[in-house]
Amino acid sequence: MTFAVKPIATGRLPQLLSQMPKAELHIHIEGSLEPELIFALAERNRMEIAYRTVEELRAAYAFTDLQSFLDIYYAGASVLIQAQDFYDMAMAYFARAAADHVVHAELFFDPQTHTARGISMETVIDGLHRACVDAQKRYGISALLIMCFLRHLSEQEAFETLEQAMPWRDRITGIGLDSGEVGNPPEKFAKVFARCRELGFRLVAHAGEEGPPAYVWTALDVLKVERIDHGVQSVKDRLLMERLARDQIALTVCPLSNLKLCVFPDLASHNLGKLLDAGIAATVNSDDPAYFGGYMNDNFLQTFAAIGLDTEQAYRLARNSFEASFIDDAARRRHLDHLQGCFDAFASPA
Ligand code: ADE
Ligand code: ZN
Repeated sequence: MTFAVKPIATGRLPQLLSQMPKAELHIHIEGSLEPELIFALAERNRMEIAYRTVEELRAAYAFTDLQSFLDIYYAGASVLIQAQDFYDMAMAYFARAAADHVVHAELFFDPQTHTARGISMETVIDGLHRACVDAQKRYGISALLIMCFLRHLSEQEAFETLEQAMPWRDRITGIGLDSGEVGNPPEKFAKVFARCRELGFRLVAHAGEEGPPAYVWTALDVLKVERIDHGVQSVKDRLLMERLARDQIALTVCPLSNLKLCVFPDLASHNLGKLLDAGIAATVNSDDPAYFGGYMNDNFLQTFAAIGLDTEQAYRLARNSFEASFIDDAARRRHLDHLQGCFDAFASPA
């Protein structure tokens, strides 16, 4: 791939990473719930929580794998009761995203985590949708919603969730698949994804986070998803790497998440550079930033420092984020032009 912009002094890389416009394509909005907000919402909703202080709660964020995180993450989400709670959570995320020069965000949400507690689909979507509208007004961030099915539950329950969401069909752009991966392969959801496809939803799925390359293959070939969330295990399968590169299937990679969930022993061992070298359309994302110690720019800055990526790779990652997003072509063109302008400005003598 050719470098579309002029050389930029390496010393300016951190500033460039921070200020370049970017899209976030992999953020579980419930994973943006900071401990302070968990406590504030618990108080507002007159709920007891199992920790006495913010510090005590934060100290519990020592994960050994995906499941050890999910247990705490679902417990944290239990303070979300009213539409206003969902709104406040999402607006807090948008404030952080705006500070990181995120100009477009695609938000995952997990309705089954809430409907199982008696919270209505309407409450969830009302709060999140209102926040997406206000993100545009307050921060100039375009935002859309991707509804995820929890893969540890049954396909029948996914169908029921889809049915419950249909009155708000126009507020949901895409469908995703998340939660505990190993033992819950994509093909478990073949029928419900086929139905979502017929209904015109855009499709994505978590695959190859902890699970094997075989799950990435079936996410692509059985579920027919357009992007793979995580996908870092794909490097174990040469043919899969060739397929991802040939078809330019975007991977929404989340380096700090992978670090905190022990997918890699340290950030220096992360394979983001290998994915880019193989010609794969990787992107950088935050996943569950309140739990993993960093939002978008933390992910960029720490990963670039740890594995020694350069300005060309910064450009490709930001460009990939717009290419792989579900925005329309006019907006995509506008964002790519701004990206180019940003790199050109950094290339000129200071
Ligand atoms: N739900 C929230 N974060 C997740 C992750 N990293 N993997 C799977 N499901 C999730
Ligand atoms: Zn995720």
